[in-house]
Amino acid sequence: MADASQGSDFVVVANRLPVDLEKLPDGSTRWKRSPGGLVTALEPILRANNGAWVGWPGVPDVDVEPFFEDGLELCPVGLSEQEVADYYEGFSNATLWPLYHDVIVKPVYDRSWWNAYVEVNRRFAEITSKAAAQGATVWIQDYQLQLVPKMLRMLRPDLTIGFFLHIPFPPVELFMQMPWRTEIVEGLLGADLIGFHLPGGAQNFLYLARRLAGQVTSRGTVGVRSKLGSVQVGFRTVRVGAFPISIDSGDLDEKSRSKAVRDRAKQIRKELGNPKRIMLGVDRLDYTKGIDVRLNAFRELLEEERVDPVDNIIVQLATPSRERVESYKAMRGEIEQQVGRINGEYGQVGHPVVHYLHRPIPRDDLIAYFVAADVMLVTPLRDGMNLVAKEYIASRSDLGGALVLSEFTGAAAELRQAYLCNPHDLDSVKDAIAAALEQAPEDGRRHMRAMRRQVLAHDVDRWARSFLNALSDEAASPHVSANV
Ligand code: ADP
Ligand code: G6P
Repeated sequence: MADASQGSDFVVVANRLPVDLEKLPDGSTRWKRSPGGLVTALEPILRANNGAWVGWPGVPDVDVEPFFEDGLELCPVGLSEQEVADYYEGFSNATLWPLYHDVIVKPVYDRSWWNAYVEVNRRFAEITSKAAAQGATVWIQDYQLQLVPKMLRMLRPDLTIGFFLHIPFPPVELFMQMPWRTEIVEGLLGADLIGFHLPGGAQNFLYLARRLAGQVTSRGTVGVRSKLGSVQVGFRTVRVGAFPISIDSGDLDEKSRSKAVRDRAKQIRKELGNPKRIMLGVDRLDYTKGIDVRLNAFRELLEEERVDPVDNIIVQLATPSRERVESYKAMRGEIEQQVGRINGEYGQVGHPVVHYLHRPIPRDDLIAYFVAADVMLVTPLRDGMNLVAKEYIASRSDLGGALVLSEFTGAAAELRQAYLCNPHDLDSVKDAIAAALEQAPEDGRRHMRAMRRQVLAHDVDRWARSFLNALSDEAASPHVSANV
């Protein structure tokens, strides 16, 4: 229940608002959907709860007042150009992101970026403390805001505070590189409940809470949505658990059955020249996603004549992401070169073998691509969950299609009937793609049926409910409904 004068009973805090402010060439502005899985997952939950969402509007140096949209109160947090460079592009995306994703690229440790991270986290805590009603539940999201739980608790001890990490929590040996490792662990321990996707992340955190913050912790194994771990911080008990995130699977299932989507899927196949097999990649253009891995695997399969370029094509839809960060600029160049090389060697005039779009695709169109694709390629080197894998499964009400899935995604723990592969082993990726292309229809339907059972039963509503119920059990706080 949002009440501008008294604050909201339920507040989500994330680096980004669910919508980005876009400045148009004529000087006017408009709001558009923000990129990434966090927004995909949380937006339906928040809208159903009439809560408040605290976040950055996605562009520097704008001063926007809080406003209501469809019953949701949006509370913008302003960032200067310098803060975007140091806190967002720097510490969040050139330090934490690569460190938490297995140092696929080398993390940069820069003291001025850390100072900006502390400063901006403080601003988020202050704005949140004003947006939350007495005794409210506040749910802080992701790696950009790991200091907010402790800062907010100091400002507002009456609040019930949850924190969820949407990306992997790294192995202890890697986390120990972080110069400000103790501050981060202590920042998180300001929450009543800290959630990770997988039990492994929760266990790594418990170990670090003992070693770095000197706290007494539970030692038993953490389960999935059960058997929470605990850390004793003075008189408070902080719970630590594994809550694998999901999608609004019912909605995708329903949309994928609509005539409009099915017609569009047919049209897509036709526009692509009705090839025998369409492979699809859908990602933010990020080095963690292994877009290069799948292109290399495809090129070698073509080279070895295991796959025929006339019958088999790839569509790669890539949303622009973090474009001013060096490693992202370099990767874009490399991927576009790979696309050019494969098309140069194996395409025909008017018939490329790799179709590559560098722009976001409207949601309904994306579902039609899922329905049209015979093989979905999800090959990250590391990914906290990967919602695209689940979106593909939810969209295949026809039981068609096959999923090639990296073992290094959180989704692989749930989708065991996918064609699992090790993205560090190109032969394993090639074999998985070849097997998916050649699967017998009956095997495909059996695998898809099993994966759909998992994805439809464990949707984002269940994820939010399990987290918020654990949080309210802990704090005996007013219950917040997670029904979408
Ligand atoms: P991440 O959160 O790292 O971006 P996820 O796979 O968990 O990765 O979530 C990505 C979200 O962004 C999904 O909802 C997906 O549908 C959406 N998305 C990814 N690429 C595109 C694209 N090219 N066009 C539109 N939406 C996209
Ligand atoms: C991932 C992160 C989110 C982030 C999203 C998009 O999903 O976990 O926190 O919002 O990517 O990235 P961006 O940097 O554009 O916000």
